Amino acid sequence: MSGKFITFEGPEGSGKSTQIRRLADRLEEVGISTICTREPGGTRMGEAIRNILQHDAIDEPLSERAEILLFTASRAQLMDRIILPSLNAGQWVLCDRFIDSTMAYQGFARGMDIATLDGINDFAIFDRKPDLTVLLDLDIEKGFERLAVRYAGGGGEKDRFEREASDFHRRVRDGYHKLTAREPGRFCVIDAARTIDEIAEDVWQVIADKLI
Ligand SMILES: Nc1ncnc2c1ncn2[C@@H]1O[C@H](COP(=O)(O)OP(=O)(O)OP(=O)(O)O)[C@@H](O)[C@H]1O
Ligand SMILES: [Mg+2]
Repeated sequence: MSGKFITFEGPEGSGKSTQIRRLADRLEEVGISTICTREPGGTRMGEAIRNILQHDAIDEPLSERAEILLFTASRAQLMDRIILPSLNAGQWVLCDRFIDSTMAYQGFARGMDIATLDGINDFAIFDRKPDLTVLLDLDIEKGFERLAVRYAGGGGEKDRFEREASDFHRRVRDGYHKLTAREPGRFCVIDAARTIDEIAEDVWQVIADKLI
C-alpha cells in the first residue's frame, strides 16, 4: 500500500522544520515508517542546487526564470529518486516545503505568471500532489523574531530569501492564503503563533483524523 505524502509550508521561521521532526517522531511511535526530506535539496543534486539558490554559491545574479527552473529541477530529482520510491514502498514522506513554496514565493511574491508555474510544477511532480499540506500560518515579524533567536544561538546565517524586504514576505504569506482558498481540501491551516507543543498536538490531530 502506498504511503502518505505530507508537506509543510509557511513563511520564514514559522516552525516547519521543528514540526516535521515532531510529527516524524510521533508517526514512528505508532509504527509508521517515515522519511523526512526538504526542498530545495534532499538529494545530492538538490543540495548542490540549494547552495546556489539559498547561499549564492555561484557569484552571479540569478534570473527569475532560472530561479524557478532550479527549484523545480531539485523537485523533480527529489520526486523521482526519493519521494515516489518511498511512497511506493509504503513509507510516509514528510517534506519541508514543496510546490506551494514556488507558488507563494515566485508566483505571488515575485509576480511570475501563476498558470505557467502550475504547469512547471505539474511537470516536476509527475502529477503526485501531497495528500495533505500543513500551512503553518504566522505573522512575518514573529517568524523573523524566532529566526533572530536561532541565529543568536549560532544557527546559521540569513539566506537569500530571508534578506528580501518585509513586503516580499507579506506577499508570501498572503499568497499562501490564496493557495488554501484554491485547494481547501488539501490544505490544513494551523495557527503557528503558539507553543511548539500546542502546534504539534494540532498537527497530530489533523493527521490522525484525515490520514490514519
Ligand atoms: N512555536 C514556537 N514558538 C517559539 N519558537 C519556535 C516555535 N517553533 C519553532 N521555534 C523556534 O523558532 C526558530 C525557527 O523554527 P524552525 O527552524 O522550525 O522554522 P522554519 O519554518 O523551518 O524556518 P525556515 O523558514 O528558516 O526554514 C527555531 O529556532 C525554533 O526552535
Ligand atoms: Mg526550516
